[in-house]
Amino acid sequence: MPTLDVKNLVLWYRTRKGPVHAVDSISFALEPGQTIALVGESGSGKTSTANAILRLLPKNVLRYDGEVEFDGQNVMELTDEEFRRNVRWRGISMVFQGAMNALNPAVRVGFQVAEPLMVHYDVDRDEAADQALDVLRKVGLPADIARRYPHELSGGMKQRVVIAMSLILKPKVVILDEPTSALDVMTQTNIINLLKDLKNTDRLSYIFITHDLGLASELADLVGIMYAGELIEVGPADGVFVRPKHPYTGKLLASVPRLRSEEAPDFIPGAPPDLTAPPPGCRFHLRCPVSFEKCGWSAEEFIAQMDLLQSSGEAKDKVPSIASMSAKSPTSLLIKPGANGSVSDFVQKLNAFVAATSEKNRFLKSIESVQGKTKSVEVKLYETTPPPIVGTEWRAACWLVTEGAA
Ligand SMILES: Nc1ncnc2c1ncn2[C@@H]1O[C@H](COP(=O)(O)OP(=O)(O)OP(=O)(O)O)[C@@H](O)[C@H]1O
Ligand code: SF4
Ligand SMILES: [Mg+2]
Repeated sequence: MPTLDVKNLVLWYRTRKGPVHAVDSISFALEPGQTIALVGESGSGKTSTANAILRLLPKNVLRYDGEVEFDGQNVMELTDEEFRRNVRWRGISMVFQGAMNALNPAVRVGFQVAEPLMVHYDVDRDEAADQALDVLRKVGLPADIARRYPHELSGGMKQRVVIAMSLILKPKVVILDEPTSALDVMTQTNIINLLKDLKNTDRLSYIFITHDLGLASELADLVGIMYAGELIEVGPADGVFVRPKHPYTGKLLASVPRLRSEEAPDFIPGAPPDLTAPPPGCRFHLRCPVSFEKCGWSAEEFIAQMDLLQSSGEAKDKVPSIASMSAKSPTSLLIKPGANGSVSDFVQKLNAFVAATSEKNRFLKSIESVQGKTKSVEVKLYETTPPPIVGTEWRAACWLVTEGAA
């Protein structure tokens, strides 16, 4: 039985611009002693996923649902009080992003590590101090550390202290949100080795959130790739890192600089989408190098891409002349030919342009039909839905995977 089984977890925030789809139907399971690395660009929803699992919700939550099974119990059904008392910290704990810089500067670290024992288990002060010492030793710190203040510690020591705080109540699952991003490479390695040791001795399960694919591959049994609030690929680390199924994962791996490699790292053009208005279809289609008919271009996006092409020097003379474009529906648009061009001439030129350049300008693949009207040309685009996440042990959400073409 998995220690943690997350099913269709959703967390949206309310903002003036509209709902932020920070976590959209995320599912994964963790066995005892297993680590999943959650990897993705900034803003892809990694911290929000962790907060949703631990029910640490800001005031502006708009939607929060799904299932979080911990030790076989759906803890989403617990009241806030039951969850706080029985699950948070005792069952699932967290090392917060930037936590080592948030230690209380006026309190000795021993007390900061011991305090949860007094709060959650009513343990007396001396007993709590003894247990804190044990945990501090376990994370590789000397006994005298307990009497020191945070400013007397190095970055690596502070990070060990916050890891000790996350372990003090003996949880089964620890969520580590970017636990090493502020540390130098040697200290990072030491912390990763510590986490590996703890995982082996205590059968801890980790959710390891990171931007760093190298560190993820050091620690992870499973990898979950997040993009725009969705988990777009999840599977065994030794599979996903070697032969990714999702084009975004492939691009992410290719963007890692390699020592002693002649090749320049690849990059992903464009930026992640605005989560208040996620793109229709596959959320990655605007940046995907292999997007095709089913990927979900909307008429608005088509117009924006066509505008870009028209104004770019590179393709200026090759795009048929256009007077105006307007979206008629999400999947159809009207184009008025420019410079006194006839409708039939425009249809011919557009078809030729698509045939010649759609491998490069992938949005052109979304055209289902081009039809001449009296004064304008109607372009119909393929209708589609977001790709489902398919597979069992190793899942990915891409139409190429669904169709077996990946
Ligand atoms: N309380 C909030 N209200 C509105 N939007 C929020 C709130 N918290 C986070 N967001 C937005 O939700 C999205 C996901 O944020 P999140 O912090 O989960 O990303 P992340 O993957 O952890 O990023 P990073 O790698 O930078 O830590 C972002 O667009 C962020 O701006
Ligand atoms: S469904 Fe696959 S091919 Fe299409 S845009 Fe998304 S990742 Fe690319
Ligand atoms: Mg974060």
